[in-house]
Amino acid sequence: MEQIGVLTGGGDAPGLNAAIRAVVKSAVLEFGCQVLGIRHGFEGLLDPDGVEPLTLESIRGILPRGGTILGAANRGNPFARVVMKGDRRIVEDSSGQVMSRLSELRLDALVVIGGDGTLRISQELFQKGCPVVGVPKTIDNDIGGTDISFGFDTAVNIAMEALDRLHTTAEAHHRVMVLELMGRDAGFIALHAGLAGGADAILIPEIPFRLDRVCELIEARARDGRPFSLLAVAEGAHPQGGTQVFTAGDETGGKARLGGIGHQVAKGIAESTGMETRVTVLGHLQRGGTPTAFDRWLATRYGAAAVRAASAGRFGRMVALRGNEVVDVSLTDALAAPKRVDLGADAVKTAHGLGICLGD
Ligand code: F6P
Repeated sequence: MEQIGVLTGGGDAPGLNAAIRAVVKSAVLEFGCQVLGIRHGFEGLLDPDGVEPLTLESIRGILPRGGTILGAANRGNPFARVVMKGDRRIVEDSSGQVMSRLSELRLDALVVIGGDGTLRISQELFQKGCPVVGVPKTIDNDIGGTDISFGFDTAVNIAMEALDRLHTTAEAHHRVMVLELMGRDAGFIALHAGLAGGADAILIPEIPFRLDRVCELIEARARDGRPFSLLAVAEGAHPQGGTQVFTAGDETGGKARLGGIGHQVAKGIAESTGMETRVTVLGHLQRGGTPTAFDRWLATRYGAAAVRAASAGRFGRMVALRGNEVVDVSLTDALAAPKRVDLGADAVKTAHGLGICLGD
């Protein structure tokens, strides 16, 4: 193995730089191999200036930094690339160009750090002969095949801190405080942060909720001398028989953006209980800034494991955490089904057992 490439795709997540650093250090120090950084996801393979050598010097100091030194691209799918021809938007397959560029660059392996969309593209490129190893990152924690993706722990900690801060205002003003959290169609951030931050109700996409149940809990608390409540609401949560709420379609061809359920829930609570409600949408604060120790630890282990997998020729694989072990699993298996909150799992039982309302 003489030269490998590394890229980061999809939205940013805390820990990307830690993973890049581990790839470079492990490649250089353990395998005496050079690393090329590819900028802005797969787009860098379609741009003559889209690659840069990554050395021990160039990655110095990036471990605690959020974002990604390589840049990310949410919509860089080479199999369906949106290009402008005059004033017309055309979708074209540029995967052939990507494959040619990879051989031109003489890459013995390509480490792709990304979420489900990016890993799916990697899987397709692997089928075309690209020697790819995947690394799972996402704050949503919705990638199959692994217990945890890096980025998730930081998002949960930020959400928990927000709940702690909202708690004091809820109590002081006798209000219902609703915190809307990210996670797309998975409720992991809301569930974990809700448990860690003492939410009275947690609404997640996996459990379509009944607002009357939430209002019953809020009113029971008020009768019991606690006229305030704290709610963690996942952006993908929706009422029984209802649909998810979107802020906007995505004009650039990506996924439509979820958002707005927090306001809908708060309005319903205010109307039904007569209590004062307030909404906070935590948004991208969950994704930015320095990663927690856990995410640095996981991203570092993942980056190094990806290089080891590449050196062993284990392509078409994704590094993954199973219990305490970092292993590799086939991309096909990892992507077979997105991960969702398991309703039989301990966290859900615990929430029910602690009297937290899950809206069911
Ligand atoms: O997948 C990560 C995530 O932050 C989701 O939780 C959220 O729904 C989405 O990305 C937001 O995407 P964007 O940054 O494109 O608005």
